[in-house]
Amino acid sequence: MKKPYEAFQLQDGVVLKNAVVMAPMTTWAGSSDGQLTATELAYYRERVKDVGMVISATAHVVENGRGFSGQFYAGDDHCLPQLKELAITLKSGGARAILQLFHAGRSTSTELNEDIVGASAIPETFAYHTNPRALTEGEIQTLIDEFARASRRAMEAGFDGIELHGANGYLLQQFLSPATNQRDDQWGGSLENRMRFPLAVVDAVIDVVKQSGREDFVIGYRLTPEEVPQMEPGLTLEDADVFVEQLAQRNISYLHLSLQQFDQSSRRNPQQTEPVAHRILKIVEGRLPVIGVGMVKSGDDLNHAFELGYDLVAVGRALVTEPRWLSLVQQGLPVRSTMKATDSLERTVPQVMIDNIRINFPATIE
Ligand SMILES: Cc1cc2nc3c(=O)[nH]c(=O)nc-3n(C[C@H](O)[C@H](O)[C@H](O)COP(=O)(O)O)c2cc1C
Repeated sequence: MKKPYEAFQLQDGVVLKNAVVMAPMTTWAGSSDGQLTATELAYYRERVKDVGMVISATAHVVENGRGFSGQFYAGDDHCLPQLKELAITLKSGGARAILQLFHAGRSTSTELNEDIVGASAIPETFAYHTNPRALTEGEIQTLIDEFARASRRAMEAGFDGIELHGANGYLLQQFLSPATNQRDDQWGGSLENRMRFPLAVVDAVIDVVKQSGREDFVIGYRLTPEEVPQMEPGLTLEDADVFVEQLAQRNISYLHLSLQQFDQSSRRNPQQTEPVAHRILKIVEGRLPVIGVGMVKSGDDLNHAFELGYDLVAVGRALVTEPRWLSLVQQGLPVRSTMKATDSLERTVPQVMIDNIRINFPATIE
């Protein structure tokens, strides 16, 4: 079994002090114009003291990629000072700092974006109720460049790496999924075509990192390996097998599986009882470290996740509730369990008090 508390070599030149990761979590704590606030920095400072790596809340790479109010922006060089401040804060406890990058696509609100785009003009009817227009070929090329530019910015700002947010139904996943991508050009249709945009983004980031000469810069990819059965036709584990193989061949730094429960099996096909983690780990065959996440709340959960075979395990809400969670579970001390987590899509997260300011996480998150 891999060990949670021992140092972990992610790649040449990048050693994590342990194998536990703070999961990316949006805080809605920034200003309305995309600025980081002192509150958000204070929130991080309290929570990055023990983990080996911390992945920031997701940041949009172009203006209309915004998915949340109070979200900080990474799409312009004028963001560099605040990104530098964030990198310093995330590293303040000795963790490696990763900037998560995304485009929300159609999973945004009309209050945040006038021009809502997606892989195809397919309305979002689950949560956001948006009517996106399909991105043009030229816009797709520009977006690929913007992901690369934001990665270059992350390097300049002092981050140890970036994670591409290809999970939770945002734009990269909207291209991968047959439910949201019904294009009839080279960017849609067959699985090969649906993979083209996310893989082009990965390749563009690999290129920009190569050009920089930074061999130790981390490139991670967060993937939802399977969509819920209500998405029909939706992304299947069979699709994920093929996509993961492509990521493994590209030799990126890690794959981050976004699961609601770290040991869950297929939700689309109840006959498949094998944990999704095992299936993906078999495809990866040790070529990439794999991060697991989802409902790790106790030291026992943490051990089970490593027993399952994950190389690294990310912890989200438990760290929101208990900033020194890792140190407490390592010492076998009790942890507060005030979070009201449910196993449904609606997850209730606590309000967090920082410097007497309340961060109000909304009740529903994706
Ligand atoms: C308040 C909140 C905000 C989140 N924001 C993000 C995000 O910005 N990017 C992302 O990839 N996942 C996000 N997630 C998902 C978490 O990274 C994680 O996968 C999920 O909370 C399950 O892990 P947990 O059970 O340890 O909390 C968020 C989750 C929560 C609770």
